[in-house]
Amino acid sequence: MADQTRQKTVVIADYDYGDVDVERAIIEGAGLRLSAAHCKTEDDVIAAARDADAIIAQYATVGAKAIDALTRCEVIARYGTGTDIVDVDAATRRGILVTNVPNDWCENEVANHAMTLLLGAARKLCQYDQATRAGRWQWQTGEPIHRISDRTLGLLSFGAIAQAVCRRAAGFSLRVIASDPYMPAADITDRGAVPVSLEELLDQSDYLAIQAPLTKETHHLIGEPELRRMKPTAILVNTARGPIVSDQALYQALSEGWIAGAGLDDIEEEPAKVHDWTPANPLFGLDNVIITPHAAYYSEEAIHTVRDFAASEVVRVLTGQPALSPVNAAQVANTRGAANPRLGTGPPVW
Ligand SMILES: NC(=O)c1ccc[n+]([C@@H]2O[C@H](COP(=O)([O-])OP(=O)(O)OC[C@H]3O[C@@H](n4cnc5c(N)ncnc54)[C@H](O)[C@@H]3O)[C@@H](O)[C@H]2O)c1
Repeated sequence: MADQTRQKTVVIADYDYGDVDVERAIIEGAGLRLSAAHCKTEDDVIAAARDADAIIAQYATVGAKAIDALTRCEVIARYGTGTDIVDVDAATRRGILVTNVPNDWCENEVANHAMTLLLGAARKLCQYDQATRAGRWQWQTGEPIHRISDRTLGLLSFGAIAQAVCRRAAGFSLRVIASDPYMPAADITDRGAVPVSLEELLDQSDYLAIQAPLTKETHHLIGEPELRRMKPTAILVNTARGPIVSDQALYQALSEGWIAGAGLDDIEEEPAKVHDWTPANPLFGLDNVIITPHAAYYSEEAIHTVRDFAASEVVRVLTGQPALSPVNAAQVANTRGAANPRLGTGPPVW
């Protein structure tokens, strides 16, 4: 029989926030115990969290091996929206709920960052900044710059963030087109963009903003043939995931003038996942590309929201309340053979 007096334990498998004060206030405030680790591997997760009642993870992989080793875990919460670091099927088989944070925690930050990269590249901010620091006070150091209004912004995907970009684009008098094979054309039209095929998107975009999820289908979706058919004046912005674009093809496109510029919030090797990363990628040698360190989601407020939500989610589950953002609630309910009020009522968010 379960020991009702046992204090339940939450293990934070990994975090890069400097401290866990936000989580501690919520978790210990609910009478639970907190322990925090810096797991890099599944073996680290097993060592740190084998007997945990709940796990919160940022980047650490919580795969089938780790999940099968857990003795009493009820919930695995992801700091963020994507749950690709968790083997959700393995968790479901073990009757463990997986939760995420609904994507509005950083939607505005990412949309602002996409527009910032677009405008920065189009207005040649980095070139001007470098020139003025070198003593060249001449508008010509940015030549050529084209008028932004009335140009075409192409959105690869028309999900939540792309729609937020679309709303911002109206303020710059941009015509917006979007390619999203999983969204009905009428929904795209209703929200202010013209639905197009991928080929039309590549042909017509003056600015191409990539905001699709990284899937088998979108991996290297933008490679040599796609970049070759874009306008030579086009600017590519990627605030999604690096591997959607082939960096080798992009380097060739930017250095040989197939397209004019790029603004990237991630590169193909995804440095955040690489130990002892150095900027050896040839893209860093080009002055017509702006690169930021997968920072589009970041604001103090967004980070606070994601930490607060993930910690509150495990508290809800461990204290018998429904989760607000369960990913596998229906599947876990089936696995357990009965509806469980702790699993929440929201739709699965994949
Ligand atoms: N750089 C960052 O800091 C940051 C932060 C948050 C999200 N992201 C990235 O942005 C992506 C989108 O986020 P969101 O909140 O808008 O997601 P969302 O779930 O609201 O929308 C995703 C959209 O992509 C569409 N899609 C799927 N496959 C596609 C394809 N092959 N071609 C075109 N469209 C396709 C879907 O139909 C959906 O409409 C995330 O998957 C993530 O990779 C990046």
